Amino acid sequence: MGNRTIAVIGGTGDQGFGLVLRWAKAGERVIIGSRQQQKAEDAAKKANGILGGSSSVAGMENPKAAAAADVIVMSVPFAAHVDMIKSVHDSITPDDLFIDVVVPLSTAVGGSASTALAVWEGSAAQQAARLLPLHTKIASAFHNVVSEALQRIDREVDSDVIVCSDSQETRKVTMELAAEIPGVRAIDGGRLENSRIVEQMTALLIGINIRYKVSDAGIRITGLPKTG
Ligand SMILES: NC(=O)c1ccc[n+]([C@@H]2O[C@H](COP(=O)([O-])OP(=O)(O)OC[C@H]3O[C@@H](n4cnc5c(N)ncnc54)[C@H](OP(=O)(O)O)[C@@H]3O)[C@@H](O)[C@H]2O)c1
Repeated sequence: MGNRTIAVIGGTGDQGFGLVLRWAKAGERVIIGSRQQQKAEDAAKKANGILGGSSSVAGMENPKAAAAADVIVMSVPFAAHVDMIKSVHDSITPDDLFIDVVVPLSTAVGGSASTALAVWEGSAAQQAARLLPLHTKIASAFHNVVSEALQRIDREVDSDVIVCSDSQETRKVTMELAAEIPGVRAIDGGRLENSRIVEQMTALLIGINIRYKVSDAGIRITGLPKTG
């Protein structure tokens, strides 16, 4: 745990709320971002109620949440990705870390959740890189971990998290954040362009969930050293 504040844009939603719970439980300062102040505050109250004890999750409108944070996590539907990035663009400073969780599922255009769209830039994460200030440290992660598993805070998450970024240091910090979630092993996924593959795997996992009638299929990379 570092001396940092994490803002989850879309933290009122399934995936973002799961990440909020996990990081707040690990002792991080967390802000839930929303398009509506009241919705953010309500979600923060709910998170604090679930966590109890000393947790102090706050709720703010997205631009304020991003401005108050050192780590900005984008967790919104792909259809809202561009608009939500634009809404926090001016709140992001060169020291901030931006983590994109967004998967370009075909649901954005009325299609199935078990198929993914081709994004002009290559991936949702690369789309973020095109839209954010040039200096922004960008990583992508958490695509292959399902919200149900994140929100069940009494249980470990049974999945690896593949982290992609063009900066080794940014990958390292993001991997540390992933490893704060019990059961998660963070995997160095290399350059941001690899996010395309990781994002598309989520559609595959959704299809596997449907075919096997389960809700939390994840991934494990085998053959790595124990400390890897
Ligand atoms: N759910 C999963 O298990 C899972 C797993 C891996 C990856 N992901 C990815 O993570 C991202 C978030 O997933 P999610 O399931 O948490 O999504 P969600 O619940 O549908 O939406 C998350 C939040 O996004 C905000 N939002 C902003 N613009 C929106 C718009 N136009 N329409 C709807 N919501 C909008 C909403 O917050 P406000 O109304 O408060 O602004 C909403 O609560 C997606 O890209 C998804 O593909 C999800």
